[in-house]
Amino acid sequence: MSERTLGMGVIGCGGIAQAAHLPNIVKNPRARLVAVADIDRDRANATAEQWGCTGYRDYQELLANPEVDAVCVTSWAAAHAEAVIAAAEAGKHILCEKPIAITLEDADAMVAAADRAGVKFTMGYQNRFGVSGPLIKQILDDGLIGKVMGLNVVGVGPSSHGAPWFLKRELSGGGVLMDWGIYTAFNLNWWLGPVERVFATSAIFRKEVMVRGELLTDLDVEDTVAAHLTFRSGAMGSWYSAWAVRTGHSTTSIDGSEGAILMGKGDGVNLYSTQLGDPDHLRGWRNIPAVEPSLIMLHYRKIEHLVNAVLDDTPLVMTGADGRDALELVLAIYRSAELGQPVTLPLERGIPVLEPAVAI
Ligand SMILES: NC(=O)c1ccc[n+]([C@@H]2O[C@H](COP(=O)([O-])OP(=O)(O)OC[C@H]3O[C@@H](n4cnc5c(N)ncnc54)[C@H](O)[C@@H]3O)[C@@H](O)[C@H]2O)c1
Repeated sequence: MSERTLGMGVIGCGGIAQAAHLPNIVKNPRARLVAVADIDRDRANATAEQWGCTGYRDYQELLANPEVDAVCVTSWAAAHAEAVIAAAEAGKHILCEKPIAITLEDADAMVAAADRAGVKFTMGYQNRFGVSGPLIKQILDDGLIGKVMGLNVVGVGPSSHGAPWFLKRELSGGGVLMDWGIYTAFNLNWWLGPVERVFATSAIFRKEVMVRGELLTDLDVEDTVAAHLTFRSGAMGSWYSAWAVRTGHSTTSIDGSEGAILMGKGDGVNLYSTQLGDPDHLRGWRNIPAVEPSLIMLHYRKIEHLVNAVLDDTPLVMTGADGRDALELVLAIYRSAELGQPVTLPLERGIPVLEPAVAI
């Protein structure tokens, strides 16, 4: 008897669905692509034809299809909440792309809906299935650098922006931090536990940008953010993120009572640890190559994560609640930048939607 496969639907037929979700569902022997949906009917139909499945304009029709057991929600950020809640209420398992939503109220409602329905709800942070992220987590959990005291994270690069909506706050919820920084927010929570306090500044240095032939002016999402973080554990550090820049570079350093971790662009994970008998802090550094899989493989793994969790009824290693917590950190930083004051987490519910960052 052949093994049961998971019937999957994709809600939102844009760039990431085409590059990551559709090919990897089709590639997975335990999954079966049943249907796609997009508010752009022509795009839904063309995608359905290309991938050999049913196309709908309305995702409710996709959810009504009994062949669909699970969905990937790959619409723009502001549209995630409605689709995820409807999917949960229809009893479908869910992979939602990042960010989970653009408000904490929506994120909470999404997590609650999935919990109520008893469906699996995971997020689209593919780097969770890479090499360096889990390695850093292991180093920290094994106590190889002792008690963590401080960190410094830099993540900058020029963005070509996949679509105009990424630069429209009502659809994206924010700029560089909401789109890119949200991966770092997820990592920081995962590696070091919750952040207790943030104090941030943000700015819009670039006034206008051309995205896919559309000239966007009066941008209302930040392109540059710097934040000071204090973790509940007592560790502290800084985080700088920017995308209106000419070239990319990123580093993460974490210092503890027994050593340090340093990760730069493409040179693996560097570790100094007294726990490993490293003799001398100048000569004792070891380089762990940590060769990352291709991006398409990372996407394959995040989809496989949901497929296997449903079919084998195993726990998820990354949940909607993790996505919600990453969003909370980003929103706290936005709020601090707006107020010009430190902000304490957890955030109070019902905070107003913030004004755009200050244009410089
Ligand atoms: N994990 C990653 O590496 C990665 C990379 C890029 C984008 N993303 C995320 O994926 C999501 C989509 O990004 P994209 O680059 O594919 O955007 P996109 O603009 O290319 O595609 C979004 C699609 O969603 C459709 N859509 C919007 N609202 C809808 C609704 N209610 N029902 C059905 N379809 C709807 C749009 O018509 C569009 O076709 C975003 O959340 C983005 O942040 C993740």
